[in-house]
Amino acid sequence: MTARMLFLLTVRSAKAVAALAAIVASASVLDACSVFDAQTGDALNFACSNDDSDPAREVTFKGDIRPIMNRLKTDPNGPGCRSCHYDSLAIGGDADDAAYESKKGILQAGLDMTTLGGLRRGGKTSLGVTAVPGKPCDSAIIKKLRGIYPTGSRMPRESPRFLNDTEIQLFSDWIAEGAKGEDSE
Ligand code: HEC
Repeated sequence: MTARMLFLLTVRSAKAVAALAAIVASASVLDACSVFDAQTGDALNFACSNDDSDPAREVTFKGDIRPIMNRLKTDPNGPGCRSCHYDSLAIGGDADDAAYESKKGILQAGLDMTTLGGLRRGGKTSLGVTAVPGKPCDSAIIKKLRGIYPTGSRMPRESPRFLNDTEIQLFSDWIAEGAKGEDSE
């Protein structure tokens, strides 16, 4: 065996050991957070933060949050919350309006988000903790959007597409900034 061959062999086995170590390390990481969303591949037990991700930008309920919630079932960006959590009659729709037909979130969970006041009030399991000012990690809405709420489904329920990280961060920042807005919004 020449010195060069010996050298190459050593380099190769060092690489193999490094590769093996990487595999072992990633396996233990996988073990530590083994819950992934089947649709998006997002880690569900992500590290939650109560911090405002962009203190220079004020997130408003009316301007940033409500438009996401308002999305119809057929919206190309995926549905919001209105088909299940809005009272169609209260916002001028009629009882047969296909966009509001289900109201499942109101009927099953008692969570009526037609107004911000209703959102704040909360539902059966989220009474008073739907959006806890300053504490996104304690807020039912964030847990539901992430799929880490102890009961029920990830929201929007039965959705072909969940909210993406940027959209969920908007909800989180709005709550981190105090979940402000008028009850009537
Ligand atoms: C297709 C219908 C549907 C859509 C769309 C939907 N929800 Fe729901 N939601 C439900 C139902 C049904 C429940 C009760 C069962 C459960 O928790 O899975 C519920 C429960 C909840 C709860 C827990 C309330 C409680 O007190 O138990 C929260 C919070 C929630 N939804 C937030 C949202 C948000 C935010 C959106 C929009 C981004 C949304 N939902 C969209 C149907 C829906």
